[in-house]
Amino acid sequence: MNNEGFEEVKRKIKRYGQEHLLDYYDRLPDGEKKEKFEKQLENIDFEMIDSLYKKTTLEPKNENANVEPIEYWDKERLGGKYDFYEEIGIDAIKDGKLAAVTMAGGQGTRLGHNGPKGTFDIGLDSHKSLFELLCDSLKEAGKKYGVTIPWFIMTSEENNEDTVEFFKKNKYFGYEKNVYFFKQGQLPMIDTEGKILIGENGLIKEAADGHGGVYESLVKSGMVDKMKNLGVEWVFIGGVDNCLVRMVDPVLMGLAIYKGVLEAGKSVVKAYPHEKVGAFCKKNGKPNVIEYSEITPEMAEARDEAGELLYGESHILCNLFNISAIERMGSTPLPYHCAFKKATYIDKDGNKIVPDSPNAYKFEAFLFDAFGDLDDMVILRVKREEEFAPVKNATGVDSPETARNLYNNLHKQNK
Ligand code: UTP
Repeated sequence: MNNEGFEEVKRKIKRYGQEHLLDYYDRLPDGEKKEKFEKQLENIDFEMIDSLYKKTTLEPKNENANVEPIEYWDKERLGGKYDFYEEIGIDAIKDGKLAAVTMAGGQGTRLGHNGPKGTFDIGLDSHKSLFELLCDSLKEAGKKYGVTIPWFIMTSEENNEDTVEFFKKNKYFGYEKNVYFFKQGQLPMIDTEGKILIGENGLIKEAADGHGGVYESLVKSGMVDKMKNLGVEWVFIGGVDNCLVRMVDPVLMGLAIYKGVLEAGKSVVKAYPHEKVGAFCKKNGKPNVIEYSEITPEMAEARDEAGELLYGESHILCNLFNISAIERMGSTPLPYHCAFKKATYIDKDGNKIVPDSPNAYKFEAFLFDAFGDLDDMVILRVKREEEFAPVKNATGVDSPETARNLYNNLHKQNK
């Protein structure tokens, strides 16, 4: 950036009360770090950070959205239609129209593993990592349908290097030519006064922008173009931490194609009405997810005539999109949600501060906030024990132990 351009950046920094960044910048000796810091300053949207900070002090506002149950199909009860949808999906898969995206940019703070979550070994006899288990399932599906399914892996600035290194070390599990990495975006973290923090590495403290960043980064990184060149029309997007994730599902795909929708999601039925999970719904007539914090006790317990929960279809981060939907979502900004976290930083006197309680705001977009960009979405209820074994916590529910048991049970049955 030329001098004039940077002068404008400086004016903005002052306008939004972030002068401490300029003081820090001025004290930095010339060199690589100063250049990096300058680049960061140029790329920050100070106006947006300011408005996000203002929102952190507001009471969460009740959106007053009109929430209704959403229609869903139960994979177990498709009857004669099962084969019909499956056939449509199989044809599309065989034509090479499917790609898989794994979102692996999260920090995995609850699990506390030292390294990217995908590198975690859940303790199977094979000691395979989550990445390898996912890769196995793609290879197996590819073999079954006589195609190779390209695999796009979203990393973050924080874990990209370690992730790529892990794949290299493991020779890409034999899938090298079909693996593509791309990085998600990030946003600065701020303190309770709205001041942007400086991290331990002497640069602005930034954090991944949430799994909702997947659409924009797929477009911006050129991955959507790459997919198009490969002839891809449908993209499955899932998390890295569900060791039973079924990324290649012809029934889901066939259902979406037949119903003429551009997005589809898998659900598992809530384990109990007040389970702390988001549930698929319609908000103001459009597909969406209602979070457990937003749902009233009456809604959580309401049932239809058949005895099924009206808001019982848990969102499990297993969704399929037409590529045109991704392009559209990637160019429509999503709202950011704010989380209060512990963040180590460097204070204005240059001291490293390691907080023992949350001290900073982090901003994240949620993938499902984009669902409402489209009018319709197909929801397919699948069996928890076949498709959902999340690894979230170090112990207890959704831990390596529960995931390992689910994995072993399913694979025993399939033997
Ligand atoms: P979670 O919301 O469970 O977050 O992510 P996490 O980072 O794995 O774990 P905690 O909350 O810090 O303990 C669900 C999926 O979305 C991905 C994660 O990698 C995981 O596959 N994700 C999340 C991203 O790719 N980027 C993000 O910014 C956040």
